[in-house]
Amino acid sequence: MRIDIATLFPEMMESILSESIVGRARKKGAIEIFCHQIRDYTLDKHRRVDDIPYGGGKGMVMQADPINNCYNAVCEQIGCKPHTIYMTPKGNVFDQQKAVRLSQMENILLICGHYEGVDQRILDKIVDEEISIGDYVLTGGELPAAVVTDAVARMCTGVLSSPECYEDESHYSGLLEYPQYTRPEIWEGEAVPPVLLTGHHKNIAQWRLEQSLRITGERRPDMLEKYLEQHNSK
Ligand code: ADE
Repeated sequence: MRIDIATLFPEMMESILSESIVGRARKKGAIEIFCHQIRDYTLDKHRRVDDIPYGGGKGMVMQADPINNCYNAVCEQIGCKPHTIYMTPKGNVFDQQKAVRLSQMENILLICGHYEGVDQRILDKIVDEEISIGDYVLTGGELPAAVVTDAVARMCTGVLSSPECYEDESHYSGLLEYPQYTRPEIWEGEAVPPVLLTGHHKNIAQWRLEQSLRITGERRPDMLEKYLEQHNSK
């Protein structure tokens, strides 16, 4: 899979996405990520990419043309039109289901907005969906794009050692994850739940499911209700 990111801060994106699991996955070629400086695509001699809003109001609006030129350059590089996503607090809220869907695509392009937003005409022309990472407003789309990239990349083949690494986790199955323990067996007088030391796989799986159901019910009754509806109708 290839992820392209159009941004005014490519160095910021590179610094996040060159580290840890995503950084290693890029180095070994399990995933490709390219960050593009939108400013490189303006024809303005002062490299401006924004202007005042028609109709008045505070702040500046990013112009259509530099983003359009950047989009065309990406299309040319990959030889097709990428699934194009604009990061905005006005978008649909990101979740694990969206991450799974995006991880199955060959090419996605994330557009990071800044200032008071982006000229609506470029959004109407190239954007397939708008995504928010939550009901709060950040200074730009870079951190949201990094969040989406991380969540999507870790489900691409070869990024984690096996699909089990994410299939057992919170949100993937529709439940929150069970508690985990490691050595020592007793820490500050607190013992590991005995069933985990038995080596009895069926009992361990049963205990983990019960814990997941309990934690989800306590913390996210909305998720538990959905999960039970789906499982009771099967
Ligand atoms: N840009 C600013 N805030 C955002 C958010 N919450 N989600 C996505 N993009 C954003």
